[in-house]
Amino acid sequence: MTLWAQRMGAGPAPEMMAFNESLAFDRALAAEDCEGSAAHVRGLGRAGILSSEEVELLTAALGRVATELAEGRFVFAAGDEDIHTAIERRVTEIAGPTGAKLHTGRSRNDQVATALRLWTRRRLGHLAQAVLGLEEALAARAAEAGGAYLPGYTHLQRAQPVPLGHHLLAHAFALARDVDRLLAARDRLNVSPLGAGALAGSSLPLDPAGTAADLGFAAPFDNSMDAVSDRDFVAETLFCAALLGVHLSRLGEEIVLYSSEEFGFYRLDDAWATGSSMLPQKKNPDVAELARAKAGRLIGHLAGFLATLKGLPLAYNKDLQEDKEPLFDTVRQLELALGALRGVVATMRFETDAMQEAADDPALGAVDLAEWQVARGTPFREAHGVVGALVREALNSGTPLATLVAAHPALGPEAAALVAPGGAASQERTPGGASLRSVARQLATLHARIAADRARIG
Ligand code: ARG
Repeated sequence: MTLWAQRMGAGPAPEMMAFNESLAFDRALAAEDCEGSAAHVRGLGRAGILSSEEVELLTAALGRVATELAEGRFVFAAGDEDIHTAIERRVTEIAGPTGAKLHTGRSRNDQVATALRLWTRRRLGHLAQAVLGLEEALAARAAEAGGAYLPGYTHLQRAQPVPLGHHLLAHAFALARDVDRLLAARDRLNVSPLGAGALAGSSLPLDPAGTAADLGFAAPFDNSMDAVSDRDFVAETLFCAALLGVHLSRLGEEIVLYSSEEFGFYRLDDAWATGSSMLPQKKNPDVAELARAKAGRLIGHLAGFLATLKGLPLAYNKDLQEDKEPLFDTVRQLELALGALRGVVATMRFETDAMQEAADDPALGAVDLAEWQVARGTPFREAHGVVGALVREALNSGTPLATLVAAHPALGPEAAALVAPGGAASQERTPGGASLRSVARQLATLHARIAADRARIG
């Protein structure tokens, strides 16, 4: 039986129930719903609406239901429209007539908003933790990379040599921003909607501040209509997740590219790669490809949910039930992606000889050669022209660039060293730039930040 059966002449049509129910997916909120309900019951006790015996009875019943749900022993019934309905029904079975008092002063509207905030608050912490794990894997590999260099690219054309550690840490710093965003979103969602009722609060003497404190929320809602219709925290989580997904897709794409025969910079560990059903020689970077692909799905969840919210009138509308599947799926996909990608990053082999050979391309010292002239008084644009012309001549004539530079009247052997193997790599660079000294500083910065973020997660 539904919670609202007395209002209707006829029982619900099966197709109506099939379309309307959310139990298929919102059972994920079971623990948080019991948690929110127990806080509500204690609040009713403090307000003198329930006796201490009734509070005892209901919280014990809720505890038992939570255990049944956690252990997979809970038996759902036809008519359980959603997890909230199912839990109230079972509490009433256990607690008897007192169960009928559980929903006093409460609506599923503030109830579901409370449970979903509790769920999201917890998961944002877990996600931040998982992102830190990948960040740490990148930092460890960057530290281990030592003096290895590879070409840095712009337009996917070789640009300047960069330490492998510098390259890996670029991804880690993007992830550090993701952690910050996830935790900031968690701070913002930490407001309790409990006590907002259906939309206008209750005429009973409830104390939203008390239940907010009980549930560890920083504050109760300011406006009951906003409290039951606000899903900003879902949209924000989906955005943080989509951007994190974009970062993972860029890292994924790079692993796909660098583990190809053509680049040959990374070699995937067998345990973290797949084979082909037909081509016996293949070793495929499926994890990196899926990490690349999932971003599409996450962006879709964000765009889809924003479209759901757009134009909704106040206050609660059933449209809001559509918040759950994208949110749950997003969190699940990211948990999987972060764990798998971490494994790939932690175990892949660096083919430093291939990287070095590519980084030794003499043309990668071109801008250092121009700056060498700038340091001796030549305007940059002029120096750029001199080097550009020499590169063109080297390509056309087949003469090594270093030979041309050594023979040039304004340049000579000292300048030629910049376009010899290792020349550009040995240059001192801007703080934060691509030098080994900079990588050491970045590692210290990142480790401090990781430690601070761990403390923030709590
Ligand atoms: N399953 C619903 C949801 O997820 C719970 C709230 C239902 N509220 C209502 N007034 N029918 O949004």
